[in-house]
Amino acid sequence: MSDQPNKNKNIPTGIHLLQNPVWNKGTGFSKEEREQLNIRGLLPPRIFSESEQALRIIENFRKKTTDLEKYIYLISLQDRNETLFYRILIDNIDEMMPIVYTPTVGEACQKFDHIFRRPRGLYISTEDRGSMKKILQNWPEEKVGMVVVTDGERILGLGDQGTNGMGIPIGKLTLYTACAGVSPHLCLPIMLDVGTNNEELLKNPLYLGEFHHRLYGEEYDDFIEEFVQAVQEVYPEAIIQFEDFSNRNAFRLLEKYRDKVCCFNDDIQGTASVALSGIFTSLRITKSKLKDQKILFFGAGEAGLGIGSLVVNALVKEGVPIDEARKISWYVDSRGLVVKDRKNVTKHKKPFAHEHPFSETLLEAIHDIKPTILIGASGQAQTFTQDVIETMSVYNERPVIFALSNPTSKSECTAEQAYQWSNGNAIFASGSPFDSVTLNGKTFVPGQGNNAYVFPGIGLGAIVSETRRITDEMFIEAALTLSKYVTEEDLAKGRVYPALDRIRDVSAYIAEAVARVAYASDLTEQEKPRDLLKVIKSHIYEPNYYSYI
Ligand code: NAI
Repeated sequence: MSDQPNKNKNIPTGIHLLQNPVWNKGTGFSKEEREQLNIRGLLPPRIFSESEQALRIIENFRKKTTDLEKYIYLISLQDRNETLFYRILIDNIDEMMPIVYTPTVGEACQKFDHIFRRPRGLYISTEDRGSMKKILQNWPEEKVGMVVVTDGERILGLGDQGTNGMGIPIGKLTLYTACAGVSPHLCLPIMLDVGTNNEELLKNPLYLGEFHHRLYGEEYDDFIEEFVQAVQEVYPEAIIQFEDFSNRNAFRLLEKYRDKVCCFNDDIQGTASVALSGIFTSLRITKSKLKDQKILFFGAGEAGLGIGSLVVNALVKEGVPIDEARKISWYVDSRGLVVKDRKNVTKHKKPFAHEHPFSETLLEAIHDIKPTILIGASGQAQTFTQDVIETMSVYNERPVIFALSNPTSKSECTAEQAYQWSNGNAIFASGSPFDSVTLNGKTFVPGQGNNAYVFPGIGLGAIVSETRRITDEMFIEAALTLSKYVTEEDLAKGRVYPALDRIRDVSAYIAEAVARVAYASDLTEQEKPRDLLKVIKSHIYEPNYYSYI
């Protein structure tokens, strides 16, 4: 697959060229291009380079007074001039990632029907049952590498957003391109409109989806099955990433399809990989081994259980028997410590329900289990109290504390609290970004366990290797690779993840690691290239203007 969009297709001419975001360079067209492509006179005379154009965009971007306005501005640039959009996004990733993705994308989804301008991606609704293949054939690209699909039922921490949830697949795919260089023409965002149970939306005259409640049971499963089959037929090379499905469907769909088609769920597996990487890096600081840890999870949903399961697989890979491997992870959910004799222990929690006395609260559980690592994935703000962090510090010289809940307002504690209450000893990471903290003259830079460290590289590696499946081993290798690229300098500042401005390099190494697994596990028909990293890099899309004549 080529790294440049539609390189082999005919370039449009005249006004169509300026209206086509893939080809448009705006004032960047040279004098000769303007003459030969029939756009002379359709642009102001002065010719600007890409970097000169970027100055204008950044100036306007920074003048916007709200993050939502910044989001709308960037999306309209994407709709006008894709190359310039990605150039600017990549060069300003720290500043712009929170706009094109969390947290601003959450607000954009909530207001999607109000800010809607131009469609992007595909919408498939209950009306389209029986015709999904035909709809996929309407997509203008011959090849698709990544499909990100949602049914909008659990958008970030915002619940059911129905069709408005389309902002998430669009945002995620933007990150595939910005963070790993997956070419935009290989990316397809899809919204499955199976209805919504959000009564506000059902009353909203501007709502863009169908006005009915969600499909359930067999009807829902048949809908998804037709969709998966249609993708297999129309775009057999595409990887399907399930995104922001409800807890109820996310595990089920993953279990049903993970061994049948090339797919994964980022909320479960991507989160697990990025958290596991943070754990591996913490072990570099505490100089201890994974098998010797006790991990207490606060929250036993998609994120928490996904991490716990990948930890088990990582230990099994290291040679630990599975029953032993399960014993290192413990869960506290909304009903207290998950133990064998407790009622209301769902199927996915059962492997972690150990024979052990029950504790009602998190603090009791910490006293009882004495975990070395505490991971919050509960969506409950301020639950890692001073007592909790101080108790973790009593039992550990360097307690590992990850407060992963998003958005910032839901974080189990802030970075400042974690450092202050542990007297600067906590190894801290969070789901949402926090500013640096200075304590007793030392500055700590908290790491953000952003899934964007992992999923773009996994997608790139899977596309290049043409793997038939995405396996847990790939997520473990991705975690190890990400951890490897955390420098000693990062560690000294307390960061367990590399700086975001290195993300494209790190993604290439993750892609290499993922592809290596595909070759070693016979998951591809392709032969492993001699210089795999070079091949990976040759697929990376660079948003630079090149001459069309
Ligand atoms: P979920 O809804 O599947 O799970 C939430 C879990 O928290 C459930 O097990 C629930 O029982 C538990 N819980 C709720 N109230 C509780 C309480 N008072 N005490 C103890 N446990 C309680 O949600 P999911 O997908 O697992 O996400 C959880 C959080 O993690 C969200 O805030 C999400 O934004 C965040 N997250 C962060 C990621 C990252 O940092 N990379 C990636 C994915 C999710």
